[in-house]
Amino acid sequence: MRVRSFVVALLGALTVASTAAAADLELGKKVYAAKCASCHGADGKGNAKMAGMLKVNIPDLSGSAGKSNAELLKLLAEGKKPMPAFAKSLSKDEMDSVLSYAKALVRGSGGK
Ligand code: HEC
Repeated sequence: MRVRSFVVALLGALTVASTAAAADLELGKKVYAAKCASCHGADGKGNAKMAGMLKVNIPDLSGSAGKSNAELLKLLAEGKKPMPAFAKSLSKDEMDSVLSYAKALVRGSGGK
């Protein structure tokens, strides 16, 4: 009985801890794969095929790595043609997480 309530309390604490993390790279990775990779590419360098279809230049995200999260959050929330606005489809946590993931991604590819 005691063990069981301890486990329940522990699980509760873990759930709170994981949802409270503002920037969660696992969540960011999922959101990136679902919402961003089609244009920006799995490596953040841009999907040339999509750029050709949209007839736009998709910037290498490493160019954004130096920008502040506040600046990038605004861009994500409002969109920038042809990039859609994500304010309605993503939560603030998801946007925070995907930005942190994108920054980690481009740093991992040499930080160029
Ligand atoms: C429909 C294709 C498309 C999708 C989907 C998309 N983007 Fe973009 N993104 C673009 C294009 C095109 C630009 C360049 C806009 C411009 O500057 O004119 C851009 C610009 C950006 C920039 C700014 C680059 C800079 O420094 O100027 C960031 C950051 C970014 N996207 C992140 C994301 C993230 C994160 C997601 C997923 C939540 C995403 N994008 C989804 C096409 C897309």
